Amino acid sequence: MPFQEVVEAQGHLIDSHIMENIFDKVVEYHGRFEVEQFRIGRTNSEASYLRLKVEAPDHESIERLLASLLELGCAPVDSGAAQLAEVERDRCAPEDFYSTTNHRTYVRIGPEWTEVRNQRMDALIVVREGQAFCRRLRDLRAGDRIVVGLRGIRVAPESKERDRLAFAFMSNGISSERQVETAVRQTAALVRHTLEQKQKVVVVAGPVVVHTGGVAGLAALIRRGSVQALLSGNALGVHDAEAALYGTSLGIRLSDGRQEEHGHRNHMRAINAIYRAGGVRQAVESGRLQSGILYECVKAGVPFVLAGSLRDDGPLPETITDMNAAQDAYARELAGAGLVLCLGSMLHSIATGNMLPSWVKIVCVDINPAVVTKVSDRGTGQAVGVVADVGLFLDLLSKALA
Ligand SMILES: NC(=O)c1ccc[n+]([C@@H]2O[C@H](COP(=O)([O-])OP(=O)(O)OC[C@H]3O[C@@H](n4cnc5c(N)ncnc54)[C@H](O)[C@@H]3O)[C@@H](O)[C@H]2O)c1
Repeated sequence: MPFQEVVEAQGHLIDSHIMENIFDKVVEYHGRFEVEQFRIGRTNSEASYLRLKVEAPDHESIERLLASLLELGCAPVDSGAAQLAEVERDRCAPEDFYSTTNHRTYVRIGPEWTEVRNQRMDALIVVREGQAFCRRLRDLRAGDRIVVGLRGIRVAPESKERDRLAFAFMSNGISSERQVETAVRQTAALVRHTLEQKQKVVVVAGPVVVHTGGVAGLAALIRRGSVQALLSGNALGVHDAEAALYGTSLGIRLSDGRQEEHGHRNHMRAINAIYRAGGVRQAVESGRLQSGILYECVKAGVPFVLAGSLRDDGPLPETITDMNAAQDAYARELAGAGLVLCLGSMLHSIATGNMLPSWVKIVCVDINPAVVTKVSDRGTGQAVGVVADVGLFLDLLSKALA
């Protein structure tokens, strides 16, 4: 094995399963490892330390192995400063650009390790005036200096928290219907804790919130100050207005679950009513819209973002149909979030998960375990999934926080 490197990692390596992942990676790349040093953290808070010699049969394997180990928090010892290269054309990076993870990342600029700002996955790292920032490929500009290669980069994966607010317990698996009440209690505790820490609680919601009778619960949470931003799509706005104006959701009466005669027109009537008022805000201010999720947002000054999609009717005047602008608007509202509640929208929940750094907590509620797994599957301790009806969940959550 002619190609070798000594790497080191620090953190809760054992109980966060990082150590076994590191060993597995080496084997996966047909390499060999030798533990040169391992110091186990002796208390709850003390980190463990690992120094490992890794070997691989060829240059390509060792480079790919080092890239994978970096994501697990294993960086070469004495790697020197990060290598920078200049961008020659807008949106075009040098081929060996470093692509970020959602974990806290540090780059070595000269002798100093600097934390990368605006951390998110699938971005590049731009270095300017001694500081490092995550930047999306489409935002790269000619003349930017970006990090290339794997040297001078350290990634700190989130480690499993030792039962702070029982999040560790929650994240042990996707909970089933039987555990909904427990999940609600723990989510309520997280909401309280997030607000006490002066961080934002952001709700990402799909129209199924309206279809399942979740409007009252979510509206109450917004009214009482438990939600600082709402991220959604056109349909939530449309059906929320339909429910408020005509008492139906997709033509189904919310009072008794029966199809209303000619009810299929109602969501189009709702879009028309909002257009006639000049927009959601004007509809609230003029008294046309007197209840619902968006009504409470306007009343409470809680920002909402409606991102467009190919499926949209209307769309409502507030719906942002330029996808890049919609992503930017989501990212703006997610800044400063401590907790994100993803409620019954595969599209928007996954999109939001991709924008968040790994230390922002996510509670994802969906009836489909596959969606919950997809959102939850983003590193130890970040996300928990609750497989449940979102209307029921919101009803219980608003009562738990009342
Ligand atoms: N009239 C319209 O304009 C219109 C209508 C529908 C969707 N859309 C748009 O299409 C895009 C995708 O829509 P989406 O987010 O609804 O679809 P989606 O498929 O991305 O997500 C819907 C999710 O709801 C879950 N779900 C279904 N019933 C549930 C329940 N009872 N409890 C909990 N979860 C449940 C599903 O498992 C699924 O994951 C959005 O941008 C939306 O605005 C527009």
